[in-house]
Amino acid sequence: MTVYLVGAGPGDPGLLTVRGAQLIASAAVVVYDRLTSAEILALARPDAEMIDVGKRAGYVTMPQSDINQILVDRGLTGVSVVRLKGGDPYVFGRGGEEAAALLEAGVAFENIPGITSAIAAPAAAGIPVTLRNEALSFTVVTGHEDPGSAQVNWEALAQTGGTIVILMGVGRIAKIAARLLAGGLAPHTPVAAIRWGTTPQQEVLRTTLAEVGTAGLESPSTIVVGNVAALDLLHRQPGQ
Ligand SMILES: C[S@@+](CC[C@H](N)C(=O)[O-])C[C@H]1O[C@@H](n2cnc3c(N)ncnc32)[C@H](O)[C@@H]1O
Repeated sequence: MTVYLVGAGPGDPGLLTVRGAQLIASAAVVVYDRLTSAEILALARPDAEMIDVGKRAGYVTMPQSDINQILVDRGLTGVSVVRLKGGDPYVFGRGGEEAAALLEAGVAFENIPGITSAIAAPAAAGIPVTLRNEALSFTVVTGHEDPGSAQVNWEALAQTGGTIVILMGVGRIAKIAARLLAGGLAPHTPVAAIRWGTTPQQEVLRTTLAEVGTAGLESPSTIVVGNVAALDLLHRQPGQ
């Protein structure tokens, strides 16, 4: 049997892939994170072993090495294991580390991509991350950098001219905004923060780069910086 690294999508259970839903419904073990919706967890077999390895920003409830070990141990027993991760497993989900641990232990695994919040949360607020002739690229970047590891070059990002999508950025947004401004972005550059995107709790906050640091953002939010952040295609009137 196999360990399946399954992307749960951004929150709306309807945005889980068909293959992901099939695998959850047949798994003997489901290992999941904090942001996984109850509706998706309810797809699991009544007799499935449900293991919560949830993490919160700022501290870790279970070290990554322990999560890797759970996946390896359960995988070696030969039952079907689903490792559910919010959004896409390989977009800031540490899915790459889990895949590497399984590979090293000789446990078969498969990655089932999910819809990432980096695209789905802006879309749920009417924001396209690219737009013909206006936003020719988008960069997805973490706002939560580990001290001592590779650091984001925010000043260089400011020069791309494309959309910047920041995940896990709420806690450091004032510093990030200051660095993007230092890199040349204008103070009036539009910013949107989409909290709990695609869920019934969704909240959208619109501001500017000059003011985002004091705008009262809350987690979990996807932060969009760039001209597209001023758009709301869901509520745009015909002819506008
Ligand atoms: C550890 S990262 C995981 C990202 C995930 N793998 C993905 O592809 O969406 C968690 C961050 O994703 C963003 N996020 C996840 N779900 C979200 C949602 N429903 N609405 C807005 N942002 C979300 C937030 O920035 C949150 O801090």
